[in-house]
Amino acid sequence: MSVHPSIFWHNESDTEAFAKTFVQEHDLSNAIVELRGDLGAGKTTLARYLLQALGVTGRIKSPTYAIVETYEASFPISHFDFYRFNDPQEWEDAGFRDIFAASGLKIVEWANKAHPLLPPADFVISIEMLADESRRVTVQP
Ligand SMILES: Nc1ncnc2c1ncn2[C@@H]1O[C@H](COP(=O)(O)OP(=O)(O)O)[C@@H](O)[C@H]1O
Ligand SMILES: [Mg+2]
Repeated sequence: MSVHPSIFWHNESDTEAFAKTFVQEHDLSNAIVELRGDLGAGKTTLARYLLQALGVTGRIKSPTYAIVETYEASFPISHFDFYRFNDPQEWEDAGFRDIFAASGLKIVEWANKAHPLLPPADFVISIEMLADESRRVTVQP
């Protein structure tokens, strides 16, 4: 059994610093990064900082309603939020299958709602909000 040590974020600057380091340390040009945590844990915030660290400029919308928002940095990036995903037919119709078949980075919130259609993640980042609003974070490769 492997142990994944926790990191702590005391504020959003810590999330931003983590995102910068994470994109420097990993080749994300063809990767699935799953973000886990309750509503309000800070998944979308982390996704925004990851996108910014990868060079995306301008407004970054939460994909809560559209399920996916796509970006072009040095490689294609798709940011998914499957919270409202409940029709497996949409996997085909909305082109999600094509996105996961192509290269690029996929950042995924609420991956459990798209199980078993979603391929396994390369990294799972789990965020837990603590009583003092700091976040306990673990990264599983
Ligand atoms: N590291 C952090 N420290 C303090 N507040 C944070 C942090 N990350 C996110 N937040 C705040 O928590 C709230 C929920 O964040 P959000 O990223 O939308 O959560 P999720 O996508 O997990 O539902 C937002 O108001 C955001 O500003
Ligand atoms: Mg979110």
